[in-house]
Amino acid sequence: MLVANTYSGHRVLFSHHHLFLDLMATTNNIPDLEFEPDVLSSEVLRHRPVYEGMTFPPAVRIEALKELKTFQIRPDDIFIVTFPKSGTHWVSEIVSLLLADGDLERVNRRTTLAHLEFALIDDVGKDGARYCYMYKMLQNADSPRVITSHLPYRFLPEQLDEKKPKIIYVARNPKDVFTSWFHFRKRDPRFGNLPWDEYFNGAISGKYVYGSWFDHVLEYWNKREKGNVLFVKYEDIKMNARETVVSVAKHLNLTPSDDVIDRVVHSSSLDEMKKMYQRLKTDNQGPFNNHYGNAYGSNSFVRKGKVGDWKNHFSVAENEEFDRVFQEKMKDSGLTFAFE
Ligand code: A3P
Repeated sequence: MLVANTYSGHRVLFSHHHLFLDLMATTNNIPDLEFEPDVLSSEVLRHRPVYEGMTFPPAVRIEALKELKTFQIRPDDIFIVTFPKSGTHWVSEIVSLLLADGDLERVNRRTTLAHLEFALIDDVGKDGARYCYMYKMLQNADSPRVITSHLPYRFLPEQLDEKKPKIIYVARNPKDVFTSWFHFRKRDPRFGNLPWDEYFNGAISGKYVYGSWFDHVLEYWNKREKGNVLFVKYEDIKMNARETVVSVAKHLNLTPSDDVIDRVVHSSSLDEMKKMYQRLKTDNQGPFNNHYGNAYGSNSFVRKGKVGDWKNHFSVAENEEFDRVFQEKMKDSGLTFAFE
């Protein structure tokens, strides 16, 4: 388990991503972090909870999933929902930049510090750890809140149907999702370093956290006709980032100037995001930024950023098997992806 001493002496670990967090008690728009004492042993932190038939990462606690159902939604909330490794942080950056009029210095990444369903886990000592639910922090955050989540729709707050905040669902071709996830897991020894072929079999059969990629994506694809859901594909952003930025802005009822759009496109590019996170890391500008600096500085969420990296992993046989399953699961959906 990795922990870090922060400037405030507060030792915090973000268990799911095994990232260091540096937290400040008071910020402009996130209230005091109230860590609750518990008996979270390292054993518990290795454990993936199962709730309503779905497996979740260790940072997701079943109590949070239950309480999330009654989480108060505001009509101006902005949800970014994804299956892991589909471009969550990329689109968060685009949305946050749009809200900051393209001004990188004004980007607020605080509400996207962790996903809605996560608990931030305090230092794990021998008597256990303390935790702080992200959704509790979000309850008192200023509007508009940019909220990220990997949850299937049925686990999200019930008020979504009534309050209809904007939702952006980001989907990525599953071959690259699985490849990206394989690399992400390799960085965390708790995942057990599965060799590629074993990992592949688990991924294709939806055995890992958040379940089947197919079910996840199809559920939101089938909601795309609803006015508050925008379905965005990773490969489309790669191909024409400007077009995506414009459609995201339109979805959020924002009217950025051409100049702002240019800046958002520029600052959310792979190279600029890498540079920014590296800068946050070395500048040590503040606790939340430091979290992102550490996260992104080591490029946890920004790696190759390519379409087609799966070709470096899939064998010919795995590719054929994958295509067969993909055809079968997606055949009536009309949903297609660019794989290269
Ligand atoms: P790779 O591992 O294939 O490089 P998530 O944020 O959902 O965890 O997704 C992470 C993936 O998005 C990683 O994919 C990462 O490199 C990619 N990504 C992040 N920022 C990006 C950007 N600005 N442009 C392209 N890809 C980006």
